Amino acid sequence: MAKVGVFGAGWVGLVTGACLAELGHDVVVRDVVPAKIDALNRGEQPFHEDGIPDLLARNRERLRFTLEASELADREFLFVCVDTPPTPSGDADLSRVWRVIDELPALAGHATLVMKSTVPVGTGEKVRNGLDERGLQALGYVSNPEFLAEGTAVRDFMHPDRVVIGASEAADGDGVAALYAPLEAVILRCDVKSAEMVKLAANAALMTRISFINEIANVCEATGADVVKVAEGVGLDRRLGPHFLRAGIGYGGSCFPKDSLALKQLASNSGYHFQLLAAVIEVNELQKRRVIGKLKAHLGSLQGKRIALLGLAFKPGTDDMREAPSLVLAARLHAEGAEVRGWDPVADGSGLAGVTLVETVAEAVAGADAAVIVTEWPELAGLASPEVHAAMANPVIIDGRNLLDPAATRAAGFVYEGIGRPAPARVAGTD
Ligand code: UDX
Repeated sequence: MAKVGVFGAGWVGLVTGACLAELGHDVVVRDVVPAKIDALNRGEQPFHEDGIPDLLARNRERLRFTLEASELADREFLFVCVDTPPTPSGDADLSRVWRVIDELPALAGHATLVMKSTVPVGTGEKVRNGLDERGLQALGYVSNPEFLAEGTAVRDFMHPDRVVIGASEAADGDGVAALYAPLEAVILRCDVKSAEMVKLAANAALMTRISFINEIANVCEATGADVVKVAEGVGLDRRLGPHFLRAGIGYGGSCFPKDSLALKQLASNSGYHFQLLAAVIEVNELQKRRVIGKLKAHLGSLQGKRIALLGLAFKPGTDDMREAPSLVLAARLHAEGAEVRGWDPVADGSGLAGVTLVETVAEAVAGADAAVIVTEWPELAGLASPEVHAAMANPVIIDGRNLLDPAATRAAGFVYEGIGRPAPARVAGTD
């Protein structure tokens, strides 16, 4: 079993460190934020992610947390798991990656730096040059991107569709592949640049599917087709498959919005206008705003109307608010003069403009003129209840995730509208 060091105790670093410890490796995770390390040393989990508390508890002897980079001096593998947020230009900000390199301790033996952070194509080459300039020619370099989705990250790590390993020296790639051997996963070996591009291209393909089905949904709305059935019919084609064809109010999260901008910017920095990706991003922005039009079609002016936003995290199973569609919706509703109440089972709603956060769905819908399902939490599956109907001032449900059954919801007395599903005649201007 190997000695592994992980730079960054954020979401990727913690999942990577905990899962590598679960595979039997000895792991030291280093972060620069004292409060985070203190919390982890007390056994507390800094964010909501299924499976992590169990892994932390089970692997206590194989998993340590530290503020000191020097404690990673004896490591054979040094995983870089730091944030690469967008700069104002849309490029990825690599300052944290460079900080890790500047803080590398004097290493005891041969080691390999393993890049898990999502970085632009060409970063590996720059890091290699940077390492050489610092006299670290002996330190190996491997690109090993992560494909973890929030809420299922532990499962994604332990049962990956593939592990991508990009290396210029085969021996370095062999070492990293051996770390994953217990998983018996499909391993794709390639050069560093191709590995970097796999990550960006895979995310772009997933986002393209989402924007594609959202546009199909919008055409379904105009023509009376039902996008849920359409997606099912499309997904049954083996060449296409069923995944990432759920129409809704757009993607959010810590990866897609940031990585799409980074890829678009990478292309334009290289002299290429990535037209399709630009459209994918624009479709997603417009999709978040379509809910406002649906609300207006049912309620007329939104001035003074009480709207319940149900589900605030960017998707169920996480407390992550980064780039959540709820942020755009809340800001638009605020600008329209609506009175907004927000509910989420775990997210704290940080960053929401002008929203009163409430503890229960019942509080959110009390006296509401409309309820919007923003995130498809399972708790909302029973929303079309007699209690909710009685509590609302106006029983309108806009289902931004097609969570509810339209016929059953209408039969329960609600005015129901999903995304890309046949809608009954709207009554504009009802007050
Ligand atoms: C994603 C990728 O799945 C992962 O491989 C990558 O490493 C990071 O980005 P994540 O952001 O955690 O992971 O969430 P994911 O489950 O992929 O969903 C992203 C967004 O797309 C969510 O807002 C979700 O609601 C939306 N989505 C997803 C749809 O609108 N329709 C779909 O069919 C699927």
